[in-house]
Amino acid sequence: MDQGYGRFNIGVVIPTYNEYHNLINLLPTLKNLDLDNVFVVDDDSQDGTCDLISRFPDVKFVIRKNQRGLVSAEIEGMRHAENDFLVVMDADFSHDPSTIVNMVEYAIRSSADVVVGSRYVKHGNNGDRFSRKVISYVANKLVNLSFHPAVKDATSGFRVYSKKAYKFLSTEEKIKPGYTGQVDILERLITAGFKCSEYPISFTSRKTGRSKLKIRDLIDFFAFVTFRGNLLKYAIVGASGIIVNELVLYFLHGFHPVLADLVAIELSITTNFFLNDLWTFKNRKKQFGFAKRIALHNVFSMLPGAVNFIFYFSLYLKGFEYLDANLLGIAAAYVVRYILSSSIVWGEKKSKVKSAEGE
Ligand code: GDD
Ligand code: MN
Repeated sequence: MDQGYGRFNIGVVIPTYNEYHNLINLLPTLKNLDLDNVFVVDDDSQDGTCDLISRFPDVKFVIRKNQRGLVSAEIEGMRHAENDFLVVMDADFSHDPSTIVNMVEYAIRSSADVVVGSRYVKHGNNGDRFSRKVISYVANKLVNLSFHPAVKDATSGFRVYSKKAYKFLSTEEKIKPGYTGQVDILERLITAGFKCSEYPISFTSRKTGRSKLKIRDLIDFFAFVTFRGNLLKYAIVGASGIIVNELVLYFLHGFHPVLADLVAIELSITTNFFLNDLWTFKNRKKQFGFAKRIALHNVFSMLPGAVNFIFYFSLYLKGFEYLDANLLGIAAAYVVRYILSSSIVWGEKKSKVKSAEGE
């Protein structure tokens, strides 16, 4: 290796589906980088991709019949690799090949198991079309809220994995096969204790051809974030609070109707706290101690009522039907409350994921 990787051996995995016109330019570019292995995992494209096999004898093509999926193709590539570091990137020039060297060097320097090429750290940039920018931004905000807030670009498909990390992934079962798998992979690595860092990248719109992202992938993503992350658990805990509140009020109102309601409110806030602390956000490396968490939770529990009221009242004035206005108020209050809980009360220590942004 004469690219400054020292004694390290580098491989690249490129998942492809109908990328002939991009791949024919990308493969020579990668050849100039003098990497040790290039793997193309193709899902039986019908655009002539197979013709490239004979033109690029140094490239290892893995052709999958009857199987589709961006991330499952990446994992397939990992099963074939024996390199010290494995870079995974798109075929369509959205990921700049000249960044590979920097990302690998950063992986070595920071002894990270996964370096995520990130559009959302300082010096990173998302130069995609407007609609895709919005989708990616919202998707990442949802991930940050529902999973580990410390990774800023968890959906990025441009990454470097250490051998330990990609060997681990190649034996993991039931990783989501499509785009959602990018988040699934990161969750598994972080939960298993692998060291993760981010490196700024400049993402550009694809050179030619079309994105393979479908509405179906967005639904799959949304379901994953809701059900596997914290959002559903948080909603269940919220609903349990209503039951606690009603039950306490039912048993105590005979003693004193006003005091009973105050006790019911405080008890439901408290059970809500413990359920979130011990269940919803159990795996978070919390930034605050117990006393501060419970105090903040109590303070923030007052706020949703106000949000609900402001929404209700202003929508009502705008002519909304009062029950609709109230429902929207409740939804807005839920969102505000979740954001406060996830990012402050049970927020994570910032140091968990390092980034090269300061470099
Ligand atoms: N083998 C295989 N099978 N490859 C696939 C499949 C598949 O089913 N679907 C997509 N690919 C390949 C494409 O050919 C391309 O090389 C790469 O995976 C990325 O696919 P695109 O269709 O270009 O994805 P995108 O541009 O919409 O999304 C990119 O950016 C997202 C973040 O905004 C990807 O990098 C995503 O992983 C990333 O989440
Ligand atoms: Mn693309």
